[in-house]
Amino acid sequence: MSKVFVGRVIPEAGLELLRNAPEVSELVVWPEAWAPSPEQMREAVADCEAILNAPPSRIDDALLDAAPHLKVVANIAVGVDTIDVEACHKRGVLVGNTPDVLTDSTADVAWALLMATAWRITEADHNVRCGQWGGWKPTDYWGTDVSNTTLGVVGFGRIGQAVARRAKSFGMEILYWNRSAKPEAESELGARRVELDALLRASDFVSVNCALTDETRGLLDASKLALMKPSAILVNTARGAVIDEAALAVALKTHKIRGAGLDVFEVEPLPKDSPLNELTNVVMAPHVGSATERTRSAMARLAARNILAGLRGEPLPAPV
Ligand code: GLV
Repeated sequence: MSKVFVGRVIPEAGLELLRNAPEVSELVVWPEAWAPSPEQMREAVADCEAILNAPPSRIDDALLDAAPHLKVVANIAVGVDTIDVEACHKRGVLVGNTPDVLTDSTADVAWALLMATAWRITEADHNVRCGQWGGWKPTDYWGTDVSNTTLGVVGFGRIGQAVARRAKSFGMEILYWNRSAKPEAESELGARRVELDALLRASDFVSVNCALTDETRGLLDASKLALMKPSAILVNTARGAVIDEAALAVALKTHKIRGAGLDVFEVEPLPKDSPLNELTNVVMAPHVGSATERTRSAMARLAARNILAGLRGEPLPAPV
């Protein structure tokens, strides 16, 4: 019988599984609208055997020191950049995440941002509402054609491939950059694996879909952004820190690239004084890459199943 700490209010579908499970003796859900501070987390997990962790809360050595009975950490997110997985494993703590169930949602959001940025939808919406639209003109509000162009996918895992799958119906050529080759996706999608620089030089749209790791932090810095076509659009639904955000703001402001669609940021929520706020060629969303009832409920269920398997000492359904 175990105490479980749930780091944020999560969809009922996940809580219900935990509430009704014989493995769980006490369920504590952090009730506030904001995430617990590291200190509050340490206090909350002292006698817990399982943590259902929600980003941005971090699981690190200090937290693990404070939770000596911990058996399992289940992240309600696919990205585990907030979790020191090695430190957990060293202590025999299992780690789970929520892959697959959010792949299509996140790929849809990448496409929503890609299309909105290409067709300048948020800028145009604002002008229509404010009475700043003077009527149809042959030379007004030109966007960028998406069909029959080239998409470059940085990180060709499940989500990157789902983004590319959608591009097929737009007749796009698909390039990808990934640590390992993906021969099955290459034959399914006609995608070609290239070096990152070649991808950036050749793509009309670049979609960032890699995990945030020591290797990918700041991957798209000023020198990489400078390789992109001035007509190109960058979309990020992965993690903000993969891109040097200050360098991106400069590239957008000086029209070194045409636009960006961003669901994720180096600091979330985006600071009010971010230079991105001043730019009309960027479309921004508040990290909604999996934000539907269906997907978030599926994530909550999978995270709960990871917890219960971990408490039983069984392999997790979605181990990291
Ligand atoms: C959300 O960003 C996730 O990693 O699932």
